[in-house]
Amino acid sequence: MTTLRAFTCDDMFKFNNVNLDPLTETYGLSFYMQYLAHWPEYFQVAESPTGEIMGYIMGKAEGHGDKWHGHVTALTVAPDYRRLGIAAELMSWLEDISEKKRAYFVDLFVRVSNTVAITMYKRLGYIVYRTVLEYYSGSPDEDAYDMRKALSRDVHGKSVIPLKQAVRPEDVDNY
Ligand SMILES: CC(C)(COP(=O)(O)OP(=O)(O)OC[C@H]1O[C@@H](n2cnc3c(N)ncnc32)[C@H](O)[C@@H]1OP(=O)(O)O)[C@@H](O)C(=O)NCCC(=O)NCCS
Repeated sequence: MTTLRAFTCDDMFKFNNVNLDPLTETYGLSFYMQYLAHWPEYFQVAESPTGEIMGYIMGKAEGHGDKWHGHVTALTVAPDYRRLGIAAELMSWLEDISEKKRAYFVDLFVRVSNTVAITMYKRLGYIVYRTVLEYYSGSPDEDAYDMRKALSRDVHGKSVIPLKQAVRPEDVDNY
């Protein structure tokens, strides 16, 4: 049985089995603490009956006016526990919280090469809203898709009309 519960500071000592995945970013401790302090309701962990971390989601609410939205900062499931619907469950949690906060949409960034995640997000109702050029630094840098799903407050689906033009990372907040 899988339990969804709030992420705690102690979980940072236990999430190596999840974070060793090459597509999962590991941030500095202060970054996780900032999310825990500001948006604890958006930081959920899926735990196995033996107390192992199966996966987690970390997000936040941000933006002004009709850009008020929920954002997925990290979503990851340990290789042993994939294809069990855990990521879909965690996404559903984040969408529900965003609905309660009267957000217009949920968005996230994903590497254009991450076809597994892109397939999953499309299956969950997300569309590619725009491409962000060289969003991920490395050698070479990699573009991101900014994917979105409209929530019930966005009655006319304005937030999910795709942009034709790619943007630079520094311009992400200007559109
Ligand atoms: C992407 C990831 C989070 C999916 O987690 P998961 O718990 O296995 O996903 P789910 O079981 O909830 O899958 C939901 C749906 O997504 C699709 N999907 C998930 N994994 C898939 C795969 N390997 N191939 C094809 N479709 C897949 C399926 O449609 C699936 O539904 P189904 O099993 O009923 O067909 C996981 O593979 C992962 O942690 N990857 C590394 C980190 C990462 O890429 N995170 C996203 C960064 S933005």
